[in-house]
Amino acid sequence: MKRRVLLADPLIQILLAKTGARWAFSDMVATRNIHPDETFYQAADVFFAANHKVGLTFDDITLATLYSEILPRNTQLDSTIAEGLRLNIPVISADMDTVTESRMAIAMALNGGLGLIHYNMAERDQLSQVSRVKYHVQGLIQDPIKVAPEQLIGDVLAMIEEKRFGFSTFPVVDAKGRLVGLLSGHVVKPRYAAKKVIEALTPRQQVQTITKKELGKDPIARADKFFTEHLGIHKLLVVDDEDHLHGLITMSDVERITQERMAQFKPARDAQFRLICGAAVSATRNAFGELDRERILNHAGALVERGVDVVAVSTAHGHSKGVGDTVKVLRDAFPKLPIIAGNVTSAAGVEYLADCGANAIKVGQGPGSICTTRIVAGVGIPQMTALYVCAGAAARKKVSLLADGGITKSGDLVKALTLAQAVICGGMFAGCTEAPGEVLEIGGKLYKQYRGMGSLAAMKAGSAARYGHEKADTTRKLAAEGIEALKESVGTVDRVLAQLIGGIQSGMGYLGAANLEQLRQKARYIRVSPAGQREAAPHDVMELKTGN
Ligand code: XMP
Repeated sequence: MKRRVLLADPLIQILLAKTGARWAFSDMVATRNIHPDETFYQAADVFFAANHKVGLTFDDITLATLYSEILPRNTQLDSTIAEGLRLNIPVISADMDTVTESRMAIAMALNGGLGLIHYNMAERDQLSQVSRVKYHVQGLIQDPIKVAPEQLIGDVLAMIEEKRFGFSTFPVVDAKGRLVGLLSGHVVKPRYAAKKVIEALTPRQQVQTITKKELGKDPIARADKFFTEHLGIHKLLVVDDEDHLHGLITMSDVERITQERMAQFKPARDAQFRLICGAAVSATRNAFGELDRERILNHAGALVERGVDVVAVSTAHGHSKGVGDTVKVLRDAFPKLPIIAGNVTSAAGVEYLADCGANAIKVGQGPGSICTTRIVAGVGIPQMTALYVCAGAAARKKVSLLADGGITKSGDLVKALTLAQAVICGGMFAGCTEAPGEVLEIGGKLYKQYRGMGSLAAMKAGSAARYGHEKADTTRKLAAEGIEALKESVGTVDRVLAQLIGGIQSGMGYLGAANLEQLRQKARYIRVSPAGQREAAPHDVMELKTGN
């Protein structure tokens, strides 16, 4: 294939310098018949090679517009991260203890994205966080939590407390799984603790049920009709011909799902229609400093049992033996489980983790808004260069890339998505209502706490292994690689995501990209001067209202 010659091509520049050629630029363009757009607005391979001596990040570059027939609202944002893990929007909330617990993961999945639940908590707490996401708003709850007739109400209350269920109505079944009645939430109270379930339940003949056959092909539509026809009934139990319990449908789930069907970006769900959820696992070491395989496997196994859709081996240095071995252990034990691993910023790092069995690789060392890795360790690569360097290796190894950190505006997301399959954000979501932590009022403004997982406080709470330290190390002084900060309170995830998604769609419209694959193919880049950066933001005006 004939190679097109570009003036900015590093090889051509070397040639010109060596031969002392003094062609005028216009001669060059005219003789070679190169379109000016191609000279200035370059495809990734040409652009990043021409800038290979300097690390570039989001604000260093801008994307050129292209002929378009695509309206922003018609763009598709779905992205496959691994076999069996498809997002409807390419956005993931970071596995950080001030960003993602079950509330955030639920909000992310409802919007079509994914939340990665952090591991700075006891394993059993992380498991119940995952359960809360998986049990949230289900069409047909296939395996509802049941109680037995002989149990005490006090036992049921203890179970709700222990598993942190957000509901208190339970079907009652006998030892053979046949329906005996329904234990309604209004009798599950401490004052009735000493009573048996059989004394408090609504008996079988008064409980409304439907058979699996009657549900037909569209259970939600059928259940919707049922709830309209049966005034005041909010729960529908699904049974077979022998009265074995096969599921439960709630009116609020049906209403939510009916509404969701009309939204452009559908919630991200698994094959059983449950919201998807990810969880971080640590490359834990035992007392002898060796990888604690048993603990890692038990932890991941319990997560899989709860229905987790993906695990993330999250560390500051993914191109390392401990992380690779952890990925291998997980891959051997769970051949089909999607695994995210990182973080890396080199092609060799991507290749290593892909060879160990990871499906998606996190890219980012030091771009995060609370990170100090570059200052403390003198290490890390500006994010757009890092993404480009990793993207080729990821394509060769058939793994996906997740651009992790440094996103401060929707335009950064668009730029990251020209090289990665999805983006991980911490700071963008840390100020949301759904992020863990209290709202603080300072000087009339509302804030939420946001801290790096490499900050001293977070490492003490459990994330030391992520930065290559022992938990015991946290008693002596460690070199923290993250700070503790505040983020201004920004309202709900729905609101923040609406802005981000609007921005991505707008960017795709400018590039004439109907989907994310086209965005990656079509992107053309140019560097921006410091004056160009100033020009990009509002200037020479008194700002009355922000864009949002
Ligand atoms: P943003 O910019 O979205 O970045 O706030 C979130 C990402 O930053 C990483 N992270 C850290 N990096 N020290 C670091 O160098 C830290 O303490 C730290 N905590 C989080 C992480 O990849 C996250 O997704």
